[in-house]
Amino acid sequence: MDQHQQTLVLSEGYQAYSVWDAPTRWFHWINAIAVLGLSIIGIILLNDDALGLSANGKILLKQIHVVCGYVMALNLMWRFLWAFFGNDYARWNAILPYGRGYWRKLRAYGNAFFSGQPQEYVGHNPAARLAIAVLLLLLLLQAATGLILAGTDLFWPPFGRWFAEWVAAAGVDPAMVSSLSTNTLDRAAYKAMRGFRSPIVTIHTYAFYVLAGTILMHLIAVIVTEIREGGSITSAMFTGRKLFNRPPQDTKG
Ligand code: HEM
Repeated sequence: MDQHQQTLVLSEGYQAYSVWDAPTRWFHWINAIAVLGLSIIGIILLNDDALGLSANGKILLKQIHVVCGYVMALNLMWRFLWAFFGNDYARWNAILPYGRGYWRKLRAYGNAFFSGQPQEYVGHNPAARLAIAVLLLLLLLQAATGLILAGTDLFWPPFGRWFAEWVAAAGVDPAMVSSLSTNTLDRAAYKAMRGFRSPIVTIHTYAFYVLAGTILMHLIAVIVTEIREGGSITSAMFTGRKLFNRPPQDTKG
């Protein structure tokens, strides 16, 4: 089917361009699934009272959220590394908004877009690079704050041991500390730790709202680009190839 379609399209003057390498595609879909799962559990956690969650139920949900969070954070770290080694389109200078002539390219892209004759790109277009930078920053912020909260709320790695030592009551092994058994906690230290945690949970929550809005814009941008510029950009995240009937702006091979 794929082969047949490609032959058909190619016979109409289209050419296939390799763009997303396999690690970039894996990153994208693992990230999308993990963020969806994290967001669903996050929304339940935000509405815990309205949903009548028990203390144990809330802890279980936090544990599932953090396990998904580890997957998301490791996947993100892997993508940051891959931006040094991946193909031309996976590298930092192709995904972030910087480099020689970037702002000129952005203006040209904007002018062409609004004139109704959009420029086509194999990799990210200049506007998409701005959006990718915002998305990656928000994901990094969620991962960093989430990993701290995994320590303050569950005493899980990477910072859990440190928080457990902070709040453990005198003579209690930090490995035995639990926020549900108050006799393992030093009350004053636990209160101080919750004060430290408070702005971090606020950042994690508001970054979630901004991220949700940015993801919505990302989805709308993909649909608009697909309709106006073509290039089969959605299927390209599965196949790694885009199709164009005229040479794109950033042809690299
Ligand atoms: C895109 C990624 C993420 C999204 C969208 C997200 C979303 C959320 C939301 C909406 C909440 C509820 C906040 C509240 O109850 O006030 C939450 C809580 C939490 N998140 Fe995440 N999160 C993400 C990543 C992570 C990661 C990577 C970790 C750790 C590995 C993590 C750990 C936690 C913890 C421990 C809580 C409980 C805090 C609380 O008591 O509210 N999150 N998250």
